[in-house]
Amino acid sequence: QTADSLFIINSFAEKFFIDQLFTTEEGRDIGLSYFKERGFREGIIEKFRLGYSPEARTAFTDEALSNQYNKELLLKSGLIAERNGNLQDNYRGRVIFPIHNNSGKVIGFGARILKTNEKAPKYINTPENELYVKSKILYGSYFARTAIDKADECLLVEGYTDVVSLHQAGIENVVASGGTSLTIDQLRLVKKYTNNLTIIYDGDSAGVKAALRGLDLALEEGLNVKLVLIPDGEDPDSYVNKVGASTFIEFIQANKKDFILFQLELSLKDVGNDPVKKSELVNKIAESISRVNKVEDFTKQQDYIKQSSTILGIDETGLNALVNKYIR
Ligand code: UTP
Ligand code: MN
Ligand code: MN
Ligand code: MN
Ligand code: MN
Repeated sequence: QTADSLFIINSFAEKFFIDQLFTTEEGRDIGLSYFKERGFREGIIEKFRLGYSPEARTAFTDEALSNQYNKELLLKSGLIAERNGNLQDNYRGRVIFPIHNNSGKVIGFGARILKTNEKAPKYINTPENELYVKSKILYGSYFARTAIDKADECLLVEGYTDVVSLHQAGIENVVASGGTSLTIDQLRLVKKYTNNLTIIYDGDSAGVKAALRGLDLALEEGLNVKLVLIPDGEDPDSYVNKVGASTFIEFIQANKKDFILFQLELSLKDVGNDPVKKSELVNKIAESISRVNKVEDFTKQQDYIKQSSTILGIDETGLNALVNKYIR
């Protein structure tokens, strides 16, 4: 009931923001110019139903209330907020990225400020409600499903603009996690479409390690996880706009690393010559490899053992025995 009402409000708002973007002077001068400066063309702006929320304090609030939308539901949707007893728009002077479920219905919004500053958050997102459950959202999945199916691979990026720019470049099997650590629910959503997940994150992102925490779970889910780090200071959006689609694709192909081996190389750097730490690492990797067995992929497991022992400079038979110890 509440969910249905929120869908209706969100759909109304999506249309309002699109109208503002294309048919008002402010929307065109500020919002549309912003998108175009970023390299978004009209076709992709329309496809992703991007919009603009005007600077006026109550532009959307007035429109929604005069169309008889319920105040409590409007507050719950996060589209409006109450400040000192007055209702006002929540996404004022921002460009809008609607977030769709797999039927294309709007479950929430990400609203980006035009010029970043220290005082305001770069993105304001819909608060948790009956439709918007952050841990279960993969931005762009509605637009990516058929392409994921066709490629039998899902690319995972951090942000809204990464998804939009890659689509524009013809790379459509891509969804975004929204910048936080991957959740088990998001991984299960991916698993519904494909077993092959390629994570493409910003190279200098401090969040990479955090985002990868819990990826042992992905292995248990039976996902083949690969990882690509985009060169320092770039993200998939800026990088594809810089080098073009074909170079971007070549870069991904050439730099895709298996997740287990990537994790191993990363950890090895911390270990140095410390024998205790190295022994811990060997045990940790043996445990990770043992989880692969859950999907009964013997060849893959043997391959991991071979490659990991090379990376670690240890005996393959010994590692094999250790992996077997972890298999229950
Ligand atoms: P980024 O900081 O990498 O932003 O956050 P971005 O996607 O590259 O956006 P642009 O290019 O600066 O416009 C990655 C993702 O993390 C979430 C958003 O989903 C964003 O796309 N995020 C980031 C927030 O929800 N709030 C924030 O304030 C920042
Ligand atoms: Mn598509
Ligand atoms: Mn980032
Ligand atoms: Mn970016
Ligand atoms: Mn980014």
